[in-house]
Amino acid sequence: MKDIAEIRADFPILSRSVYGKPLIYFDNGATTQKPQCVLDAVDEVYKSYNGNIHRGVHFLSDMSSEAYENAREKVRLFINTSKREEIIFTSGTTGSINGIAFSFGERYIKPGDEIILSHLEHHANIVPWQMMCERKGAVLKVIPINDRGEIILEEYYKLLSSRTRLVSVAQASNALGTVLPLKEIISAAHSANIPVLIDGAQGIQHGIVDVEAMDCDFYAFSGHKIYGPNGIGVLYGKEKWLYELPPFQGGGDMVDKVTFEKTTYNDLPFKFEAGTMNYPAAIGLACALDYVSGIGRENIELREKELLSYATLRLSGINGLKIYGTSERKISTISFHIDNIHQYDTGMILDKMGIAVRTGTHCAQPVMDRYGIEGTVRASLCFYNTKEEIDVLADGIEKVKSMFV
Ligand code: ALA
Repeated sequence: MKDIAEIRADFPILSRSVYGKPLIYFDNGATTQKPQCVLDAVDEVYKSYNGNIHRGVHFLSDMSSEAYENAREKVRLFINTSKREEIIFTSGTTGSINGIAFSFGERYIKPGDEIILSHLEHHANIVPWQMMCERKGAVLKVIPINDRGEIILEEYYKLLSSRTRLVSVAQASNALGTVLPLKEIISAAHSANIPVLIDGAQGIQHGIVDVEAMDCDFYAFSGHKIYGPNGIGVLYGKEKWLYELPPFQGGGDMVDKVTFEKTTYNDLPFKFEAGTMNYPAAIGLACALDYVSGIGRENIELREKELLSYATLRLSGINGLKIYGTSERKISTISFHIDNIHQYDTGMILDKMGIAVRTGTHCAQPVMDRYGIEGTVRASLCFYNTKEEIDVLADGIEKVKSMFV
């Protein structure tokens, strides 16, 4: 593995300062920074070969189309599925989940049917299902969590019933960091022939994701959370589902034949890619996946584990600081609250020290309600962070505390 100085040098933004202080970027759960090779790849599209994909007979269009389809191939290999038809580009995790919630609802859902989610979900894996349930007269069922922020599997097993049509859960909680027991969740659902969608927004960047081994039916993730560009995401779906589901958007390129009387649709994966796709971002994403593979996903997992242990040790040694989310299995995310100090005050003061953290409900209001709190401060770390930065955070928190005595 490259050493940390080399890794950090790959990310131009990491060498900037804010308010005259070196930037310490601990908001990787919200979005990750981009290595130079990703910036170059996107730049190169616009500088040298920009042409709308799948449409032109001209040189530029051919070149863009080929690079876009190569990007699909890279994603396929990265998440390990044998079929390129199963890789759909979307605008991001939110776009992917909204798409499936719509299509699945239209195709399969009847009044009284049930969808199971967990109490840990991000709003992006709650609201689309709620909207679908309202439209179709279906009902959401929620797997509860314990005080450590882990889902209670026994309660999940009880929720599975002959009315359950789909289970949709996060790979890891963005608010608490909990890694969900996907093996147990998926195998229990599959024993009852129920498909499972995994929201991989906080999973894909932290280790190896193998959708075939995982055996999920759908998997969604965002490019910008795995060091790629914004505005691109992926929806993986098993071919048998994607074949049966109706498209969630209509427009150019997703069609075979259009008349005013009837339209027939394109083959997979194009049936789900209406309009001009964000091909420069897809090409940039492929580059980000290459970058991550170059660092090594096992290396990333190990390094982030180490950073998480160190940060947990440092922060839990601070009087009056409470960590929310203490599951055995976590991604490198720490949510915390300091006694008698509003999370926004903590976040704003840390910001002035050059430390970027996220504050508030993290788009996961039900998690905050579960603990009866308004929000937390969240430090989400990744492999380009360092123990020295964690020390600066810990010292910064002590300074915040001293300002409120
Ligand atoms: N979902 C992103 C986060 O957790 C925005 O911060």
